Amino acid sequence: MFALCVIVLFCWASVSHSAPTPCENLIRPVESLSFHDVKGSWALVSVSAADPNYLEKQKLSDSGRAFFANYTDRPEISFTRISNVGDSCQYMRTNITLEASGFVDPQLNITMTLLRRSCPDCIVVRLDKIPGQPSRLYLFSRRREVEAKEMEEFKAQAECLSLSEHHVMDPTKELCPEQISRHAAAPTEATTKAQKA
Ligand SMILES: *[C@@H]1O[C@H](CO)[C@@H](O)[C@H](O)[C@H]1NC(C)=O
Ligand SMILES: *[C@@H]1O[C@H](CO)[C@@H](O)[C@H](O)[C@H]1NC(C)=O
Ligand SMILES: *[C@@H]1O[C@H](CO)[C@@H](O)[C@H](O)[C@H]1NC(C)=O
Repeated sequence: MFALCVIVLFCWASVSHSAPTPCENLIRPVESLSFHDVKGSWALVSVSAADPNYLEKQKLSDSGRAFFANYTDRPEISFTRISNVGDSCQYMRTNITLEASGFVDPQLNITMTLLRRSCPDCIVVRLDKIPGQPSRLYLFSRRREVEAKEMEEFKAQAECLSLSEHHVMDPTKELCPEQISRHAAAPTEATTKAQKA
């Protein structure tokens, strides 16, 4: 009887004090995110997705960029996604609301969570179209490419979220400007949408 009690107690203790799994550690969100952590411009380095079709589309763009700016009089943040597709720059801008671990985009009805990472000048953005169902993971950096170790960490994070398809952007391709150029040719569908929005 005594032996059984000891075993039960021991088992209970080992369950309640079990260390987090490697995946739990890898996909932990950041805490106390502030605008300062994201402001300015980021180059898209790599993307993982649940849907292979999305990745095929992503492969058609030469480069990607994210740009975060604040307003002087409003708590919202302006978030611009910029992609260079076949010699034209496409811009999509929405207003997002900052939360402790990420952003909410009410217009697109999506939640973005920033995951912890070891790369010091990167952000890893998890996008859930339906809450609790990660559909994409983006690696952005202030650099155009990251160290092999940093890329391995990103791939491991994606695999923990069951996003097994990866695409690495070509760092030699040109980035589009942060702002829509006044001298741009006819706006693309995406720019028109962003301007109307
Ligand atoms: C906007 O960001 C700048 C720094 O980039 C900061 O000085 C300023 O206080 C911010 N404004 C608001 C309203 O948060
Ligand atoms: C974002 O907020 C700015 C400032 O209030 C506003 O001018 C703009 O129309 C908003 N954009 C969208 C896409 O809601
Ligand atoms: C936003 O997405 C959630 C989850 O997919 C859905 O239940 C809700 O109806 C959506 N809301 C709008 C305004 O589209």
